[in-house]
Amino acid sequence: MRLMTNTPLDKLLSGGIETDAITNVYGPAGCGKTNIALCATIVCAEERKTVYIDTEGSFSLDRFKQLGGNENHLKNIIFMEPHAWKEQHALVQKLEAVVKKEDAGLIVIDSLVALYRLELDNENFQLINKQLATQYSILSMICRKYKIPVLVTNQVYGFGKDEQVELTSRAIAKYWSKALIELKKLDKPGSRVAIVRKHRSIAEGKSIEFEITEAKLKEVRLGLF
Ligand SMILES: Nc1ncnc2c1ncn2[C@@H]1O[C@H](COP(=O)(O)OP(=O)(O)OP(=O)(O)O)[C@@H](O)[C@H]1O
Ligand SMILES: [Mg+2]
Repeated sequence: MRLMTNTPLDKLLSGGIETDAITNVYGPAGCGKTNIALCATIVCAEERKTVYIDTEGSFSLDRFKQLGGNENHLKNIIFMEPHAWKEQHALVQKLEAVVKKEDAGLIVIDSLVALYRLELDNENFQLINKQLATQYSILSMICRKYKIPVLVTNQVYGFGKDEQVELTSRAIAKYWSKALIELKKLDKPGSRVAIVRKHRSIAEGKSIEFEITEAKLKEVRLGLF
């Protein structure tokens, strides 16, 4: 079973994100992660409650509306805005009750690791990584038990002292996410590519080029002009 996202990911992933798995969309700043999170949220909120966890203050009502979101969608969205890692950790532990009570059809966490990065230091490394794994395990349990997709985003920095942090969090993400989708910016302005890095039923390396426009994320068809 799949949930459409109304983005080029639907074509890339043969119909959308899987409903019993964690899909992890990762890439650098501005590559389109939040746009994808918003598009998927709008699709789900058309019919069902959607849990939207914004850890970075990335949600923009203007952008939400540009992408087709309206007041009725908003009524179906259960917003949560943790401001610290401890808050996020406590919140994820209460998620199952929310999903059950509201019969939610999707959980979005944009981003799963922003607060983790802020919290992490040399002393608490093991504890915080254990908590990250715990959050993934809870999300994994929820999506399998309630047959709903979980969509999480990860920003990738990949330089300097962040590199080690990244490798650890990436190993945890890779273990728990049944689908990993890398987003990259291409040289051409506005152009992006989404690449399957891990999937249970789609070949690694499959990719699709897209651009972010005012109203939607659109596939760029090569060689048609
Ligand atoms: N109305 C619009 N028309 C065209 N492009 C837009 C519009 N609104 C936003 N964008 C583009 O969307 C991109 C930002 O995408 P998004 O916020 O999804 O990135 P992100 O991967 O979530 O980044 P971050 O890691 O910083 O959160 C920018 O390149 C921006 O120009
Ligand atoms: Mg974002």
